[in-house]
Amino acid sequence: METGNRLRSRAQSPTQFGFRQPAQRLGAGRLPYARAMGVTYIDGAWVDDEHATVSVRSRALNYGLGCFGGIRGYLADDGKEVFVFRLDAHVKRLADSCRVLYLRLPGDIRQVSDIIIELLRRNDVRHDVYIRPLALHNSTKLAPVLDEESSSFVAFCMPLKRYIDKDAIDVCISSWRRVADNAMPTRTKPTGAYLNSALARRDAADNGFDEAILLTEDGKVSEGSAEHVFIVRDGVLYSPPSTEDNLDGITRRTLITLAGEDLGLRFEERTIGRSELYVSDELFLCGTGAQVTPVRSVDRRLVGDGAIGPITRRIQQQFDDVVHGRVAHRRDWLTPVWG
Ligand SMILES: Cc1ncc(COP(=O)(O)O)c(C=O)c1O
Repeated sequence: METGNRLRSRAQSPTQFGFRQPAQRLGAGRLPYARAMGVTYIDGAWVDDEHATVSVRSRALNYGLGCFGGIRGYLADDGKEVFVFRLDAHVKRLADSCRVLYLRLPGDIRQVSDIIIELLRRNDVRHDVYIRPLALHNSTKLAPVLDEESSSFVAFCMPLKRYIDKDAIDVCISSWRRVADNAMPTRTKPTGAYLNSALARRDAADNGFDEAILLTEDGKVSEGSAEHVFIVRDGVLYSPPSTEDNLDGITRRTLITLAGEDLGLRFEERTIGRSELYVSDELFLCGTGAQVTPVRSVDRRLVGDGAIGPITRRIQQQFDDVVHGRVAHRRDWLTPVWG
């Protein structure tokens, strides 16, 4: 059981980066919810969660100006080590996003990665964890302006087991189209674009589905609200390229590598039409949150016979082995928190 004192001492202990200490931001009395939530990084300071705040005037809030990452750490089989999965790739994508969106990070890829590992240590993370680095345009002035000078950077974490709490899901094709890359750079994980995801999710839930797949304005398969799409037809895996207005996915790229190099499966990257989803033998979604999530039906049409297919199972298993550190030649994708 965590104690207030223990949390306070973690939040105030000197950092290996020598950031200013946020003693003035640490409340004298600890609220119960603060104990449950933990320590957050904000602009060079380590603070209790309740002090990691932005103004209601912030452009980030008013106009959705910012971008973020979503990273997972997995508790290893020994129950002691936590492996952060593809930390470099995630921070690199965040840095690319910031470049596109005129945001400034508090350092290079190595330094931002160090902040994330420090975050996990300060929170004494010894469980499966989700990490959220977030870059914001934090000026309180009026008008949606992209200005590097007002960049803020935040990182927080939370325990996470399953993001989609089902073994196989029923999805629909959303009536909402995926926001086009020429309207909003979809590969940058921009905060504002998640209104598009949220509308699709809400629509899906209201109609009794677990998740939605969005099409591009051209009517081709783009992605789920926070997942990429793979189908299997006649033993071959297919997934649409990131130029179909989807995020440049790290799980997707991982699975393509695992399919080809570790499992000897055939993979082709190409556009996918809506009705191909209805006639695919297998279909699954993937993402940092969703991991590998089999799809049972699309628009109430069963995928294959409705059971989880053999290729999906193999990919799921290999991915699970990799993230838990059981695959020696993939250990360089893992950053140990405690080792
Ligand atoms: C819109 C969107 N698509 C796809 C993904 C999956 O991408 P990744 O595998 O990099 O987490 C995410 C999740 O981060 C997402 O938000």
